[in-house]
Amino acid sequence: MTPVPAQSSETQLPTLRGIADLRAQVAAWRAAGESIGLVPTMGGLHAGHLALVHQARAECDRVIATIFVNPIQFNEAADFKGYPREEARDAAELAAAGADLLFAPAQEEVYPPGFTTSVSVAGLSDCLCGLARPGHLSGVATVVAKLLLQSLPDVAYFGEKDYQQLLVVRRMARDLDIPVRIAVVPTVRAADGFALSSRNQHLTPEQRTRAAALYRVLSEVAERLAKGANAEAELARGRDLLLGAGIERIDYLELRHGETLEALERATPPARLFAAVWLGETRLIDNLAVV
Ligand code: PAF
Repeated sequence: MTPVPAQSSETQLPTLRGIADLRAQVAAWRAAGESIGLVPTMGGLHAGHLALVHQARAECDRVIATIFVNPIQFNEAADFKGYPREEARDAAELAAAGADLLFAPAQEEVYPPGFTTSVSVAGLSDCLCGLARPGHLSGVATVVAKLLLQSLPDVAYFGEKDYQQLLVVRRMARDLDIPVRIAVVPTVRAADGFALSSRNQHLTPEQRTRAAALYRVLSEVAERLAKGANAEAELARGRDLLLGAGIERIDYLELRHGETLEALERATPPARLFAAVWLGETRLIDNLAVV
C-alpha cells in the first residue's frame, strides 16, 4: 500500500524521508502508467532550480524534487555547515513550481553506518573542478547514482551552470546502465548576466557588484575565441581582465571541448569556456558555449 506522505501545513507539499516510502510512491505512479521526472537539489533554492522543476513539470506526469545536502561532495566542513538549509521555504517554492513530492532524507538514510561505496568517473572528473575540489565530483556521482536508483525516474534534470557535473552524471548513468534520460536546463542569470547560485547569498552587496565581472569577461573572451583568437593568449588576457575587475582569485579559466573536456588551443565546436573564481570566501563558477 502507498504510504500517506507527511504534509507540512505551511507548504502542502507531500514530503517523504525514507527510501522505502519513496519506492512505494513511485511504484504506485508507475502502476498508473505515469512518467516520472526527478529534480535533485541540495536546497537553497533559486530561480535556476525552479526552472528545472518547470521543465520537469512540462515533460513528465509526476515531478519529484529532492533536497539533500550531500556531505561527501563538500571539501570544507565550514562550506557544508554554512550551506543554506531552509526546507520549509524551499518546499513552498517547489510546490508553487509544480513539484508533486519532496524527498528529503536524513543523512543516515542515505549513508547508513558502514557505507563505503563510491562512484567516480575517470577522465571527466580529472580537470577543472575535479582538480580544484578533490573528491567533489565523485561525491556528486555517488549521491546522484543513489538518488536515481532510489527513484528510478524517466528523466532527471540538471542545470547547465554545473556543466562538468552534468557531463559526469550523464557518463555515470550511461556507464552504469541506469535507464534514465539526463536533461539539461539553461543557466538562469540575473539582469547583469551573473549566474544564479545558492552560494551567491554569501556575497556582500559590494562583492555582488564585482561578481558581475565574471559573466562580462567570459562573454568577451568567448566572443574573441569564437572569432579564432589563440586560446593561450586570450585566456591570459581574460585572467588579467578578471583580476583587474576585482575578482580576487582564479581557480581556472579554460577553453575545453564541450563533451570530452579536452583542453583546446582554438575554439572548434563544441568548444566551451569554463571559469571558477573567488570573492572572499565564496567560490563562483560559470561556463559559456563558444559559438
Ligand atoms: O547540483 C547540486 O545541487 C548537487 O551537486 C546535486 C546534483 C543535487 C547532488 O548533490
